[in-house]
Amino acid sequence: MSDSQETSASSPDGQAVYELVAAVLSEIAPSVSLDDCEKVDEGQMNTTFLYPGGVLKIAKEGYQGLTLNVTRAALRGEAVRVRLLTSGLDNTDIQLPVETPRVIAADPEGAWLALKAYGGHVYSRQEIRRFSAEELKELGRTVGTFTLGTSQAVDIRTLRQQIGDEQGVIDKPAQFREVLGKLSMFEAMGYANLVELLRSYVDEYDFAHDFLRQERGLSLIFTHRDLHQGNMSFIGPDGQRKLKEIFDWALAGAGTAAHNFRYLALLSPVALRAALDYWREKTDEDISEELVIACAGLHFAISCARSIDITVTGQTINPIAAGNVELLHPQYTWGSELSRVVPARP
Ligand SMILES: Nc1ncnc2c1ncn2[C@@H]1O[C@H](COP(=O)(O)OP(=O)(O)OP(=O)(O)O)[C@@H](O)[C@H]1O
Ligand SMILES: [Mg+2]
Repeated sequence: MSDSQETSASSPDGQAVYELVAAVLSEIAPSVSLDDCEKVDEGQMNTTFLYPGGVLKIAKEGYQGLTLNVTRAALRGEAVRVRLLTSGLDNTDIQLPVETPRVIAADPEGAWLALKAYGGHVYSRQEIRRFSAEELKELGRTVGTFTLGTSQAVDIRTLRQQIGDEQGVIDKPAQFREVLGKLSMFEAMGYANLVELLRSYVDEYDFAHDFLRQERGLSLIFTHRDLHQGNMSFIGPDGQRKLKEIFDWALAGAGTAAHNFRYLALLSPVALRAALDYWREKTDEDISEELVIACAGLHFAISCARSIDITVTGQTINPIAAGNVELLHPQYTWGSELSRVVPARP
C-alpha cells in the first residue's frame, strides 16, 4: 500500500515500551515527541497510544496465557484485515456510514501497528443505554448499514488466502464441545451456575452443526466479530450522537450478520430491532431477536467458561464475560459465586 511503510523493532516489555514508541514515532512521525503521545488503553493484548494524527498499538504479553507471539500475530492480522477492508472500500459503490481506520505503518513482525485516528468519543455501555430512543434507533440502523457495506468490501475467501486457514470460521460447536468436556471440572470447582447455563444450551442446540449457518440459513460474510461499544466512537451533541468510527479489526473474519449484531443485544432492544429491520429490508435474511440473543448467550458462555484459567496462582473467571452472561440471562447470578470461588490474585 502506497500510504504505508514497514519498519521492524525490538520486542517491548515494561519501560521498553516507551523506548519502542519513541523509536517508532521518530520514523513514522518525526515531528511528534513522546510528550505529545498519550497512553489511552492498557488492554489484554495491546497498549494503545494516541499521538497527533494516529493511534499506535503495541503488542504486549497478555495476562490470560497469551504470549507475545500470539499478540503480535493478532496485530499482524489486524494490519492485513484493515488493508483488505480499505482497499475494498476504494470501490466507490460501497458507501459505509462510519469511518474505519487506515494503516499508517506496520511492523512486519507485529510488534506495533499505527493507524489513522479519527477522534470522537467512546461511551460506556451504561452511557449508551441512556441515549434517546432516536439515537439508539440510528445506532442500530448504522450498524446494519455498516455490516452490509463491510460484507461487500471483503470477500472471506480472499481473507482466508491472506491470513491462512486457522483464521477461518470460528467453530462454535467445536468450542462448545471443548467446554462441555470440562463440565465435571467446573462442577468440582463450584461453578454451579455456569454448569447449569451450559447444560441448558445443550438442550437448546444441535451443536454437531454450525447452527447459525446451516440450521438457520444465514449467509457467511465478513464481519467485525468484536463489535462492542468499546470499539466504537461517536460524535455530535447529546441527543444527536452518531456513530463516527469503528476500529479494532483484530478479530474480523467470517461470521453472520447475527454475529455482528450480538453486542446490540446488550445495549438496547431498540437498537437491535433497528439493525434487524434494516437487514431484513436490504437482504433476504429475517433474523429474530431470539436468535441474536441465543447467539450472544452461547458466545459469552463459551468465553466465560474458556477463561477459567487454572494456574499455580489460582482460578479466575473473566468478569466481563460473566457480566455479559448475567445481562442476557438474569436468572444466572455470578457475583457471590465468584467471590467465594475465585481467590484474589497476588
Ligand atoms: N482511531 C482511534 N481514535 C481514538 N481512539 C482510539 C482509536 N483506536 C483506538 N482508540 C482507543 O484505544 C483503545 C484500544 O484500542 P483498540 O480497541 O484498537 O485495542 P484492543 O485490541 O481493544 O486492545 P485490547 O484488546 O488489548 O484491549 C480504544 O478503546 C480507544 O479508547
Ligand atoms: Mg478494542
